Amino acid sequence: MRINLELLEEETMNTQSQKTPGIIHVINGPNLNMLGKREPDIYGSLTLDQINGELKARADELGLCLDFFQSNHEGAILDYIHAAFEQCPAGVIINPGALTHTSVALRDALSMLSCPIVEVHLSNIHKRETFRHTSMIAGIATGQLTGFGHYGYSMALDFLHALVC
Ligand code: DQA
Repeated sequence: MRINLELLEEETMNTQSQKTPGIIHVINGPNLNMLGKREPDIYGSLTLDQINGELKARADELGLCLDFFQSNHEGAILDYIHAAFEQCPAGVIINPGALTHTSVALRDALSMLSCPIVEVHLSNIHKRETFRHTSMIAGIATGQLTGFGHYGYSMALDFLHALVC
């Protein structure tokens, strides 16, 4: 019996690419490395490592691959997004911290991506000072989760799982 190896390979690759969604990038902006110590009454007592650990455990259950990035520097976050762009990401979960309210550059970088983007905030930004009510990101994000504490990140992940798998 003759087997068309090329066809078989192509079919296997197709099945694999259907089963394995690309990477979901989890990005945290300025001051989020201080979670746990930083205003715990507003942001909760978990550290970023604990939140990321929780998220990784959930991703493992769902069979998703995550890449974590945090920076206090706007340019470093833009560079990371540019690199992610080249890899055709499956999704982005981003808590831009204070850059949410100020950064057109971050909005422009995220606008390049064609994958779903979920904006996450631990606190409810709409309940806080007026300057936090404006998000530069909301207009280009798929959706915004704000005020659900650390649960917002796993809610975002469950949503992306439903969307991309
Ligand atoms: C935040 C809200 C922002 O206003 C603030 O600057 C942060 C954290 C949040 O997760 O609630 O750094 O994004």
